[in-house]
Amino acid sequence: MSERREPSAPASLFGLVQPYAGDPILSLFEAFGADPRPDKINLGIGVYTDDQGRIPVLQSVLSAYERIGFGPQPYLPMEGHEGYRSAVRGLVFGHDHPAVEDDRVATIQTIGGTGALSVAADFLARHCPDRMVYVSDPGWDNHHGLFQRAGLRTTSYPYWSEERHAIAFERMKETLAQANDGSIVVIQPVCHNPTGADLSLEQEEELTAVLLQKRHLVVFDMAYQGFGVGVSEDAGFVRRFAAKSQCLIANSFSKNFSLYGQRCGGLSIVCGDTDEARRTLGQLKLVVRRSYSSPPATGGHLVAEILNAPVLREQWEAEVAGMRRRMQAMRSQLADAIEGLHDGFDTQFLREQRGMFSYTGLSAERVRQTRERDGVYLVENGRICVAGLTDGNITAVAKCLARLHSA
Ligand code: LMR
Repeated sequence: MSERREPSAPASLFGLVQPYAGDPILSLFEAFGADPRPDKINLGIGVYTDDQGRIPVLQSVLSAYERIGFGPQPYLPMEGHEGYRSAVRGLVFGHDHPAVEDDRVATIQTIGGTGALSVAADFLARHCPDRMVYVSDPGWDNHHGLFQRAGLRTTSYPYWSEERHAIAFERMKETLAQANDGSIVVIQPVCHNPTGADLSLEQEEELTAVLLQKRHLVVFDMAYQGFGVGVSEDAGFVRRFAAKSQCLIANSFSKNFSLYGQRCGGLSIVCGDTDEARRTLGQLKLVVRRSYSSPPATGGHLVAEILNAPVLREQWEAEVAGMRRRMQAMRSQLADAIEGLHDGFDTQFLREQRGMFSYTGLSAERVRQTRERDGVYLVENGRICVAGLTDGNITAVAKCLARLHSA
């Protein structure tokens, strides 16, 4: 007797698996790699490169490698390297922060900033599953996906006004004021991705009042500490807010240590008291154990070594300042070059925005054109990574942007 099969049944177990549409940033990076044109320019992924277009190896990192040597590398504990965790707290909260002084911060070492957000999302899905998550629009595309994957619902708050080329602050505030009390709000406190536009101090204060009044739970995503104004200044919003309220802070060392592949990040949860922090840390360890057991060791040792040794720490801060200055210089050079080519192009936004990114306002269609015709890679939402600009490619990029704006 022949076996009957439903006509629609797939021949293979995974026959119905859907193709992956790709990630707007990482898949673009793959496409860049596969592009055979020698003069292609990568302004897509947020990776800092030097004027030669190379990812730098920081001197402080080289010294830390020498110090840690090549001994055996046992598993780190679930929560990560002890010295790393205290260094994360020092860098994020600074000296004498009341939450740290009171011993009510639960910190773990994570697999980059994405890993920190992912653990945070799993933790929140378990402990406050009914809260809506608000993320910035425009924002980092992965925010929605990370929280949804954990089982939370997401929506967005407006962050940018296309007409005014500025933060849509009133609309942002209004949306969060109308959200249900106790919603989860994801905020990038510095070097906003993709717009490069950060809240002023007055806006921060106004927003804080709304967040506190609504008892929203803020998840700070701080991936670019040191690329805005300074290592300490860039943590200002987080520090001020954490002194007033419980919150979560995901931070990354990918960019500011140029340690992309080592996957170094941290997650800190500011709790109500020491005992709550101890129990929270326990639950974070459980999330880690269930997903990857423990974080990678080498990056953890390197970052801990640098942040805990005053000489290396000073050297590292100087290196971060160097990267920051190069990005600022590239911004003004690009703005100057575009103005030289195209009178009517208002480049003020390029000069004012901070960090790795600038938001050009180019449509997805224009972005596609630049990629196909000129080999200049931008993220589809019109974001450029200014850290990918060099003396060698800046004229070509200026020409390309000026042409697109006049087209
Ligand atoms: C980016 O936004 O380009 C970076 O944060 C890299 C990433 O993981 O998306």
